[in-house]
Amino acid sequence: MTQQLVYKIKGPELNKILLPNISKEIFSNDKKNKNQYLTASDVLTSDFLNLNWKDYKWKRVIVFHKSNNGGIHVDGNGNEWGINWIVTGSGVLKYWTFDKVDIDTYIKNHYVYKSNHQPSFYYETNIENSPYLVNAMLPHQATGYDRFLVSLRLGDQNDQVWHDSWEDVVKKFKDIIYD
Ligand SMILES: [Fe+2]
Repeated sequence: MTQQLVYKIKGPELNKILLPNISKEIFSNDKKNKNQYLTASDVLTSDFLNLNWKDYKWKRVIVFHKSNNGGIHVDGNGNEWGINWIVTGSGVLKYWTFDKVDIDTYIKNHYVYKSNHQPSFYYETNIENSPYLVNAMLPHQATGYDRFLVSLRLGDQNDQVWHDSWEDVVKKFKDIIYD
């Protein structure tokens, strides 16, 4: 299997693991164009969290709303990955290899890049309510129009699992990746 950066996986449907009534709050109109950085136990059922799905401790949930193109960036220190669910709209994830980008700036906690090159990889993520395993380590840009997206993440950087390579992560999910 050639290594990819986005994999559609057979995981839980988002609406089955969200706490009752939380959708109204996190996908409300006044949350548009804001990123919400949430504690997983505030939005997801304990039944799901107690599973420690794939032996990971899922601690954070980020809700993104996008109506435009974000910048090219890596998440965190460049060692993050997550499980993404598209809630509304469609999205495209573009990736560049490091030799095709230049560092533009460092904002908050991550690098932002610029590039004169076409993306090296391009993935459409457009199936609502279905999870994708997503690499956030390579420079990437998310695009979307009126798109809510939920991203499930591990804990902070003190967690040992944080340091898994992308290859290791993909291996863990191998049995539920769609061919
Ligand atoms: Fe990102």
